[in-house]
Amino acid sequence: MKNLSNISSQIKPIALKAGEIIMSYLLKDKKIEYKEEINMVTEADKESENYIVKSLKELFPNDGILAEENHKIESKSGYTWVIDPLDGTTSFSHNFPFFAVSIALVNEKNIPVLGVVYNPFYNEYFEAYENSGAKLNSKPINVSTVDNINKALIGTGFPYYRREHMQRILNRLGNFLNVVHDMRRTGSAALDICFVAAGRLDAYYEEGLKPWDTAAAYRILIEAGGMASKFDGKDFDINFPEIIASNAKIHPQVIKLC
Ligand code: IPD
Ligand code: CA
Ligand code: CA
Repeated sequence: MKNLSNISSQIKPIALKAGEIIMSYLLKDKKIEYKEEINMVTEADKESENYIVKSLKELFPNDGILAEENHKIESKSGYTWVIDPLDGTTSFSHNFPFFAVSIALVNEKNIPVLGVVYNPFYNEYFEAYENSGAKLNSKPINVSTVDNINKALIGTGFPYYRREHMQRILNRLGNFLNVVHDMRRTGSAALDICFVAAGRLDAYYEEGLKPWDTAAAYRILIEAGGMASKFDGKDFDINFPEIIASNAKIHPQVIKLC
């Protein structure tokens, strides 16, 4: 058994330093490479990932590592660190201030037991581990109490493959726009889910996601009293590419619209 309280103190300086690395690139001329037509990676993504992976390997040599850009190490302990060194690269590349470092510790059953998400632009540090409650900058956070979809502010995102699946994505978006109060798109799935945890959004949905987009924020959401599932209401799985994250109260209404 891991001591999650100790680990969460050990992780914090690593996430903060990774945020500092990202911020050091923010207003510079960014060197951008394209992984796919609209999916980019910058020097900030790579330097942040190299720093996080090196730090975690030193501290937890038996744990596995799964990091977005370039690192995959098998676990000897049953636990794996799932890392998005810069979630929201498109927002970052436009200096749009919603991007974050996301680090999760996932157990042998693929359940995230600890997660931290840090937005270095606003200096917002979201953190949680199993049965700890969720915190934003050391203060407890909770999901909203909105129970009517007509009053709800809903987050979403558009997958990199959206041009090939436009109609399905627009149909779903239309279902929501017809009934909800309004919608938002930050460009960072990890922050979107944390915003549900903090009661800033009442729910969020997206398809086309990867484990590093959702793992850390999932734990923060659950500890804040929220709920996560697939679009059909079945159990959320970090390796399945879609999520509904909600305040729990409007979860059934969100499932119907997905
Ligand atoms: C992306 C962001 C975005 C979401 C994409 C993700 P990246 O991650 O989370 O909000 O819409 O699906 O891939 O590529 O910026 O790490
Ligand atoms: Ca991501
Ligand atoms: Ca990323």
